[in-house]
Amino acid sequence: MFGAVAVSQAFVPAMVALKYGRVVNVSSTAGQLASMGTYAPAYSMSKSALNAFTRQLAAATRGHGVLVNSACPGWVRTAMGGPAATRSVAEGADTIVWLAMLPARGPTGGFFKDRQPIDW
Ligand SMILES: NC(=O)c1ccc[n+]([C@@H]2O[C@H](COP(=O)([O-])OP(=O)(O)OC[C@H]3O[C@@H](n4cnc5c(N)ncnc54)[C@H](OP(=O)(O)O)[C@@H]3O)[C@@H](O)[C@H]2O)c1
Repeated sequence: MFGAVAVSQAFVPAMVALKYGRVVNVSSTAGQLASMGTYAPAYSMSKSALNAFTRQLAAATRGHGVLVNSACPGWVRTAMGGPAATRSVAEGADTIVWLAMLPARGPTGGFFKDRQPIDW
């Protein structure tokens, strides 16, 4: 979460000046408050905080050409996800790339998985 904030602090002012930018915070369903349980507390809480940052930054940049969203890639076969994960890297990246290439009237301040809005 702190990394995403630092990167945004470095880059978003220039996006606002240019009136164009797309920020995709790579989150997880583990951070969903709607279904929060006991799974991986530090990780889950950091993703909840990241989602809160998505809402804050989206509100702060609304109307300036910058769209800010959170995405969950699903369970992906990376070093973190491990070889048993159900999704390829390409499948995991799909929603992230889609959000990075949103048209001007695309959503901002949302949380998406498989290109669909999901609960916070
Ligand atoms: N894989 C899944 O199933 C899954 C599910 C839900 C959400 N996610 C989210 O997707 C994102 C990517 O995960 P992944 O599966 O690609 O994980 P990964 O394979 O473990 O890769 C993590 C990446 O983060 C970098 N990194 C770690 N600590 C860092 C630090 N302190 N400063 C800078 N870079 C750092 C690593 O760099 P090095 O290679 O240099 O170490 C690596 O490139 C994460 O935000 C994760 O929470 C993943």
